[in-house]
Amino acid sequence: MIKKGNLYYPTKEFKEKAWVKNKAVYKNAQRDPKRFWADLAEELVWFKKWKKIFEHKPPYFKWFLGGKINITYNIFERNLAERKNKIALIWEPEPLEERPRILSYYDLYREVNRFANGLKKLGVKKGDRVGIYLPMIPEVIISMLACARIGAVHSVVFSAFSPQALRIRLQDTEAKILITADGYWRRGKVIPLKQNADKGIENTKVKKVIVVQRMGNKIPFKKGRDIWWEDVVKEQPDYCKPAIMDSEDILFILYTSGSTGKPKGCVHVCGGYSVQALWTGKLIFDWKDNDIFWSTSDMGWITGHTYSCYSPLLNGVTFVIFEGAPDWPKPDRWAQIIDKYGVTVFYTAPTAIRMFAKYGKEVLKGHKFETLRLLGSVGEPIDESAWQWYFKEIGKSRCPVVDTWWQTETGGILITSLPGIGPFRPAYTGLPFPGTRFEILDDKGKPTKPGQEGALVLLPPFVPSLLRRIYKNPKKYLNTYWSEYGKKIYFTSDAALRDKNGLIRIVGRLDDVIKIAGHRITTGELEAAINLHPSIAECAVVGIPDKIKGQVPVVFVILKKKIKNLKEVVVGQVLKEIGPIALPKEVYEVESLPKTRSGKIMRRILRRLFTGEELGDLSTLANPESVREIKKIIKIQKK
Ligand code: PRX
Repeated sequence: MIKKGNLYYPTKEFKEKAWVKNKAVYKNAQRDPKRFWADLAEELVWFKKWKKIFEHKPPYFKWFLGGKINITYNIFERNLAERKNKIALIWEPEPLEERPRILSYYDLYREVNRFANGLKKLGVKKGDRVGIYLPMIPEVIISMLACARIGAVHSVVFSAFSPQALRIRLQDTEAKILITADGYWRRGKVIPLKQNADKGIENTKVKKVIVVQRMGNKIPFKKGRDIWWEDVVKEQPDYCKPAIMDSEDILFILYTSGSTGKPKGCVHVCGGYSVQALWTGKLIFDWKDNDIFWSTSDMGWITGHTYSCYSPLLNGVTFVIFEGAPDWPKPDRWAQIIDKYGVTVFYTAPTAIRMFAKYGKEVLKGHKFETLRLLGSVGEPIDESAWQWYFKEIGKSRCPVVDTWWQTETGGILITSLPGIGPFRPAYTGLPFPGTRFEILDDKGKPTKPGQEGALVLLPPFVPSLLRRIYKNPKKYLNTYWSEYGKKIYFTSDAALRDKNGLIRIVGRLDDVIKIAGHRITTGELEAAINLHPSIAECAVVGIPDKIKGQVPVVFVILKKKIKNLKEVVVGQVLKEIGPIALPKEVYEVESLPKTRSGKIMRRILRRLFTGEELGDLSTLANPESVREIKKIIKIQKK
């Protein structure tokens, strides 16, 4: 890349080959965003063309009204003529001695069709919700696509989520079918996924459990309810007619953290999501036919859905998925995978980058990263030093780094500089994607000046892939996204600022979401989980900065009854209710929590006890003495 001041630009050579190299794309899109997206939508095959591009009935909106489509038809039938035997998917298992599985577009097409027919035979119909609780194995993609083929709504639950977390999601979707596996590898251990699934489906409407044989180990199997994947696909024909889906029919529901204990089901629809998934991947990762793409995200997150499944497949790209942890069995496992498959475009999270950087020489030894041409980052702010390490040590100062901002709600990347245009600035995520209208507003709802922090909002017509609602919860939809600045402005909940070049820097969340290693969780959700313990009277959770994970939770508890090994118990409670993604770093027993006179816990003050920031005015507190007490406790425990 070429450096000019604090900005970086792609080289002439990169630019020449890039899909987009002319800045005019921004102006053209801005002139008429609806037209811009409609032109992009033309690239897909629609069984019936839309009658109207956009309709807005705040806080609801629709795209491509009257259009009929199926995303799998666009993945397969649209691509097969040119790419029948091209590799679609490379699956790298965790054990080094196990062979990868490689599926061509045609292989995947047949697998999806067979499984789709199998689902139909089990009685799954258009609109039915299907739970998917699978690790990173090809069947997770086959399951999602098979649902999409027949118009069933998939809801993937991260395989490391606990049975309780699975149950809450299954209860909300009322899924009658769950697809799971007999286990999977994680850091050399077998995770007993089927046992977790069995617990998770208690008190739900699940009637059938389809089980993939990944490990071949002994698992509990309930006759009449459980059925092996092999038996579902056995003797099923290779072709299943794609369901004709309305543009606004649901494609999938994916849950993300809610402010209370209950997660929110983000509803994504068939038409708009397909358009966004097709084009954001193509233009941001600049995919060409010979690229090998690897996004390290699990399928349980939106990054998995869009960039480890739908987007590369719609574009006919070859991509890698990996079952294991990137630093297992050795810290350079991820670098080995890049070498092994000649990965050209690599997409990961700042937490992973910081972890690789910490391993330092050990991960770099013997790896030249010569095949890489583009790098991406996602999920949390990337600090300048992590950016520089990524850029220099992995990208060898050659590869553009696209820092991509988006959310479970947006369905696709919305802010990042395009690789053939730039500019890139470390710690700045970049320019809004063409056809998106972002603003940064101050407290009064007025646009901020460059350098001034404010709330990041998205203006009409939004984007085709923005969530349409929260499943079965219109109130939450309205309150979370359309209340802060009125029903016509989508509030992202992020604080941001712009530099004089228009590049956006994401400062962090304005709500109680914390990002632990890029995983999104609310402090309220953690508190609800911890408060379920019978000996705990009350607790407060805050996210504090962490050098590797970005943020980690610390917990303050008021006890009803003495607990031995308090930290272990609280960690165990989080493991049980949520899973291993949000384990508290520290747990403090306190007498009281700082509260306002109306009884609100002042988490901001608790957080500042760790960050060293000024505590601010304590006189508004009902019990300022609690802050002094907690300060002392933290000091003692630190020693
Ligand atoms: O705070 C922003 C942060 O992650 C939030 C969305 O989290 P989630 O729904 O889990 O989706 C993550 C993957 C798309 C945002 O509100 N975030 C996401 N990407 C970035 C980011 N913060 C800074 N820079 C990013 N590139």
